[in-house]
Amino acid sequence: MRAADISDDLTTVLVTEEQINAKLAELAERVETDYAGKELLLVGVLKGAVMVMADFARHLTGHIQMDWMAVSSYGAGTKSSGVVQIRKDLDVDLHGRHVLIVEDIIDSGLTLSWLLENFKSRGAESLEVLALLRKPEAAKVHVDCKYLGFDIPNEFVVGYGLDYAERYRNLRDVAVLAPHVYS
Ligand code: IMP
Ligand code: MG
Repeated sequence: MRAADISDDLTTVLVTEEQINAKLAELAERVETDYAGKELLLVGVLKGAVMVMADFARHLTGHIQMDWMAVSSYGAGTKSSGVVQIRKDLDVDLHGRHVLIVEDIIDSGLTLSWLLENFKSRGAESLEVLALLRKPEAAKVHVDCKYLGFDIPNEFVVGYGLDYAERYRNLRDVAVLAPHVYS
């Protein structure tokens, strides 16, 4: 779906599908240069990062491997609980691997800083973060994000993998959810 299909549920479109695609192409070029001659392991964080992973990975012209981690720090609400729980662990061993974590959004930063600490202890050769979105005003902890798509205002957004109560993930654009939907 596009924002126009559900305009009553949204206030502002922040990033369009076209802008996302152009940005992912640009990030992919940088990643290819930085990892020339190395085989990259992309680790997607379920479920929000599914769209970013699918589109970003296909911009890469060389071989990569993919794995997935499922963690939860959110219930059905719109605020981070700060409590991270592993729901599905990685299938592969990180030892000696060049790992790029692929995330939808850095909000408080709590999930990623927890993941980074967790992954560091598993012996990866290198570890970096790619995130499509970041809310600088919401940061509770600093996260080093080498590959960033867009900084956005501190509002609850949906689309391009991001949900509210499991809906809106299939919205092609990223938009601010109208408060009447969750209040
Ligand atoms: P954190 O607050 O940085 O730990 O964010 C944890 C996770 O919450 C992100 O990976 C997203 O999946 C989700 N999240 C954070 N902000 C939003 C939002 O505005 N809309 C939808 N999901 C969000
Ligand atoms: Mg996420």
